[in-house]
Amino acid sequence: MIKKLAITLACAWASLTFADSPSEVLRASMVDKNQATLDRIEQDDVQAFCSKPRAERGDLDTMNAVRERAMAGIEHPADGVYLGDWVSGGEIANNGRGLQYSDNPADPNGGNCYACHQLDPREMAYGTLGPSLTNYGARGQSDVVVQYTWTKLWNTHAYNTCSHMPRFGAQGILTEQQLKDVMAYLLDPNSPVNQPMDAAD
Ligand code: HEC
Repeated sequence: MIKKLAITLACAWASLTFADSPSEVLRASMVDKNQATLDRIEQDDVQAFCSKPRAERGDLDTMNAVRERAMAGIEHPADGVYLGDWVSGGEIANNGRGLQYSDNPADPNGGNCYACHQLDPREMAYGTLGPSLTNYGARGQSDVVVQYTWTKLWNTHAYNTCSHMPRFGAQGILTEQQLKDVMAYLLDPNSPVNQPMDAAD
């Protein structure tokens, strides 16, 4: 009984001590390792906003201000060309490596799209946190579709304030050329993403 009480008190003390500084708890239990450095624990404005319980996020204007800051930071391709090579885009979508302590920073990062999305309908392994993007190219290549897709990939929070998708452009995860290639993987009519399954598959 006494032992149980002591444990309960110790837990209560620990939670009181650390209650206001979760980043201190994380900091105390982690170390810098190669490119995975502890500055990643510092939240930026979107992360700080979206980490709050919904009831504490304030009114719609506050949420829109966060979203509009994301929209204001979007950078479009300098040469005005949005679509690259879908073959390379497929490799990027399939590659889940990059930015971890065990990855070589000299290697290109992947987009890890399949972790959350179905794309090529012949690919068996994919996550379902995000919607299926199979046949995404059926949307065509109008300016609206191209600009929307680029913006979504550059900084998803520009449309959905507390989106769970990584900010591939804004966070420097993918280069401009890699983003163009992923765009082609989504939108090019020849990309496997846009080839329906047939009896031969
Ligand atoms: C960690 C999970 C995650 C990863 C990784 C991810 N996404 Fe997403 N994505 C989402 C979620 C969740 C949504 C839907 C909610 C939203 O819009 O934020 C989404 C939405 C989208 C949309 C908009 C869909 C529509 O119908 O308009 C596109 C396009 C997209 N993702 C492309 C990609 C591409 C390309 C990659 C890889 C470079 C990728 N995503 C990686 C989670 C992810």
